Amino acid sequence: MRRLNINGKTVEVHSDPATPLLWVLRCELKMTGTKFGCGVGICGACTVHVGKEAKRSCQEKLSAIGAQSITTIEGLQGPHVRALKEAWARIDVVQCGYCQSAQLMAASALIQRNPNPSSKDIDCALRGIICRCGTYPRIRQAILEATGQVKRT
Ligand code: FES
Ligand code: FES
Repeated sequence: MRRLNINGKTVEVHSDPATPLLWVLRCELKMTGTKFGCGVGICGACTVHVGKEAKRSCQEKLSAIGAQSITTIEGLQGPHVRALKEAWARIDVVQCGYCQSAQLMAASALIQRNPNPSSKDIDCALRGIICRCGTYPRIRQAILEATGQVKRT
């Protein structure tokens, strides 16, 4: 048994230490907001925060998490997250939705370390999260609006 700090709560998990965090979240804890895409670190759909960093949970072994806090889409909050969600809805960013929890996790981590990211910063931070629907221009616009860098449309 291990204790993890997930979304501000201590939870006990019983998965094998070699299990990727993604499967601990989805299978053991039934937290399915974090998506399974490729399972090999390529698509980014499984992005969560480990500490303050956006990480691919399919590549993080349970045994390596230690005392670091984990934030998933279910627990993502704060004024910057509200601003992001409002911009996401206003611009109608989402198409099929599959990649979008990861996009929000990455956008949130970006804004926390850089409150005024340029378009280039945004593209750089999110480029590893594949959106098959091609919502990148709307994501970029939403982040620029959420950070007050362009006028709301
Ligand atoms: S499921 Fe983790 S990177 Fe694709
Ligand atoms: S919205 Fe469909 S994959 Fe990104």
